[in-house]
Amino acid sequence: MKKQVLVTGGTGYIGSHTTVELIEAGYDVVIIDNLVNSRIEVLDGIEKITGVRPVFENFDLCNRQKLEEFCKKYPDIVAIIHFAALKAVGESVQMPLEYYHNNIESLINLLYVMRGYKIPNLVFSSSCTVYGQPDKLPVTEDAPIKKANSPYGNTKQISEEIIQDTIAAHQGLKAISLRYFNPIGAHISAEIGELPLGVPQNLVPFVTQSAYGIRETIRVFGNDYNTPDGTGIRDYINVVDLARAHVVAITRLIENRNKKDYEVFNLGTGNGLTVLEIIHSFEKATGIKLNYKIVERRPGDIDAVYADTSFANRELGWKALIPLEETLLSAWNWENNIRKKLG
Ligand code: UD1
Repeated sequence: MKKQVLVTGGTGYIGSHTTVELIEAGYDVVIIDNLVNSRIEVLDGIEKITGVRPVFENFDLCNRQKLEEFCKKYPDIVAIIHFAALKAVGESVQMPLEYYHNNIESLINLLYVMRGYKIPNLVFSSSCTVYGQPDKLPVTEDAPIKKANSPYGNTKQISEEIIQDTIAAHQGLKAISLRYFNPIGAHISAEIGELPLGVPQNLVPFVTQSAYGIRETIRVFGNDYNTPDGTGIRDYINVVDLARAHVVAITRLIENRNKKDYEVFNLGTGNGLTVLEIIHSFEKATGIKLNYKIVERRPGDIDAVYADTSFANRELGWKALIPLEETLLSAWNWENNIRKKLG
């Protein structure tokens, strides 16, 4: 019988790509999502790619009673991948209480039902934001956690601590936190991808929308950083590579191959790229000329961050493989496909 995995936030950007990879790896996926930042049509995309429509339940994980009912309805779930969360940095500064309430309460509820319903395995969606501006690059998993520069970032730090404490107190529970660097791109089919609400805050969605003509000039936030061309350096990882790491991590837990009850892995490529390198690689990959201009730095941004991936590569036997230009082209193909669909 197929092993059943709960994916919270399964209609979101990373959640939908992970759902596809889980189904293709032979898992039976059940999704919980309240659709605050995603569309139900994502299920059509998943079905087109895999031939399987995952079971979908629409409710808010902050509703503990609903979650308990859910657990009674699906007693065979052996593992949870928890994506569902609010994730806009700027918005979190404006609405800290909403961010703390939503991101923390939902996690606590999940941990309660893991304990109560004997669901032993959790993979948690964390972020390299927990490192702040690291003292040493590339950044390893044991780099110190710096004070978060936004309530959003703080929810990731607090969540990791809550998970760690819970695992330590309750034998039988295990978890892996995956700290993502900058996920970009889309499934090669262009059936699923990233769909930000309103003006995209992240670089690549802004680039694809600008190339499509929905947005004006791309604003490059600062060229006076301590980097070769002065623009910020990040570690951009293809979302499908990232999704595959979740399959590896959840399988590691289910098959009891984890070395500790709580483990942390960086998910990146190990390669740092500047904003201008991304812009020029996009132009090369698509043949489209982009309009951009250098503007002021964006408050809260750091100079550079990229991953030391050797621990994840060695321990998980996983590596990011998809080349950058292919990734940027996939983002562009998705933008075209979704715009056609949205009309
Ligand atoms: C941001 C968040 C991070 C979060 C991640 C989720 C901040 C400070 N950090 O990461 O906590 O986990 O998103 O995806 O918001 N850039 C431009 N022009 C743009 C947009 C971005 O020049 O229009 C630059 C930025 O200054 C940065 C790079 O592009 O150097 C990447 O930015 P972005 O895609 O927003 O990701 P992060 O800021 O790294």
